[in-house]
Amino acid sequence: MSSTVIESPVSDAVGQLIADEEQVFLRRQPRSTELIALAREHLAGGATSNWQIAEPQAVWMSHGEGSKVYDVDGNCYVDMHGGYGASIAGHAHPAIVAAVSERVRRGTHFAQPTEDAIWIAGELARRFDLPLWRFANSGTEATMDAVHLARALTGRDLIIKVEGCYHGHHDSVQVSVLPDADEIGPRDHPIGVPGNSGIPAAIRDLVVVVPFNDVDAVARALAEHRGRVAAMILEPVMMNAGIIPPDDGYLAAIRDLVHRAGALLIFDEVKTGFTTGPGGITASSGVVPDMVCLAKALGGGISVAAIGGTTEVMSAISDGRYEQVGTFNGNPLAMAATRATLAEVLTPESYRRLDANGARLRSALEGVIAEHGYEWHVVSVGAKGCVTFRRDRVREFRDFLQIDARLGHLHWLVQHNGGVFLPPWGKVEQWLLSVQHDRDDVDRFATNFARFAAAVAN
Ligand SMILES: Cc1ncc(COP(=O)(O)O)c(C=O)c1O
Repeated sequence: MSSTVIESPVSDAVGQLIADEEQVFLRRQPRSTELIALAREHLAGGATSNWQIAEPQAVWMSHGEGSKVYDVDGNCYVDMHGGYGASIAGHAHPAIVAAVSERVRRGTHFAQPTEDAIWIAGELARRFDLPLWRFANSGTEATMDAVHLARALTGRDLIIKVEGCYHGHHDSVQVSVLPDADEIGPRDHPIGVPGNSGIPAAIRDLVVVVPFNDVDAVARALAEHRGRVAAMILEPVMMNAGIIPPDDGYLAAIRDLVHRAGALLIFDEVKTGFTTGPGGITASSGVVPDMVCLAKALGGGISVAAIGGTTEVMSAISDGRYEQVGTFNGNPLAMAATRATLAEVLTPESYRRLDANGARLRSALEGVIAEHGYEWHVVSVGAKGCVTFRRDRVREFRDFLQIDARLGHLHWLVQHNGGVFLPPWGKVEQWLLSVQHDRDDVDRFATNFARFAAAVAN
């Protein structure tokens, strides 16, 4: 990922702090350094996903337990990285360990359905108010199926996508994910910027990019491409550009617009699905889209995804117009972990605990910000949160581009060296609390944040 750095008067001082913290980081992790060198021989780039390669280097992990993770150098961290938003159960949660251990002894793969799938689909229908479900293995697969379904149902090819939303790494949505300021073009007609190499221009041309929180922009896009738009896909709370919540009424308004144009609405709740509440933003906003995509936290740490839809949408699967397939769809091990997650981990009591810890953290951080008089603010939704290093609320991706990326990186380093593991990519990502975090974990984060704030002030 690339991110635009806005030079500010504090840049030089922040640059020096970053250099100092990176030295500490490297000194603490000699074994990771060795493993990276070894890995480079047969692992491309020395890691198993580009997003594992942080600056100054990837952290190689040993194990996790409860709210903590341990790297190969024996350092212990409060885990607020949460495996990019998946580990809401924390690590080695007893309910998941029991379910997976029991399943593994009885065989883990048949490419035939097992009974857990029925219970899970019913539970997802209850939480997200959509009657029919299918499973897949990653967020990418879920949004890919949703886009295919929309095209299959409408017989149209265009997709409206929000600038700065990430929906996985398939071609149709790899457009204007994290573009640089000099690539994006005018706000009223954003340029569709490829989010990776290898994305054919012909596919990019099927994506109409709009800014978030702008109902008129959606109306305009639908009018300019009348009768050609299959669906609009978005993260109902943007979570790949810090955290950007929707304005009041935005989600309901775009659903009406999209429906009036004969198109479908897809909520990508891969990140928001269970981290913002038991039924994601779909339940909390009361705006039920035509399709919901889930992954990450759904499987309690095992790879699984789900697509939910209305009876009309999912009829395309039921009657064979759209073939939703995959060797590992509904994999018994993933289903066992998912059932345990939904039934025993993501309970009302757990959400009360997440809310209480989230509120405690938020208020501690706001206290530090107020103490220093910084023009920063905290944004949190459920178990997710971040500090936005600017005074004004971020309403769309173009506001996000204005934020100095160095503060996010420095904050990440200070937290890391202070024993709290956050996702790298500073200003882009968020923390995730798990159901196993406690007050001490949250207070550790706040203490590190106070150190960071004091360092920047000096
Ligand atoms: C909102 C959203 N959708 C989809 C994806 C893709 O999920 P996966 O990495 O499991 O393919 C991600 C991944 O970060 C995401 O944040």
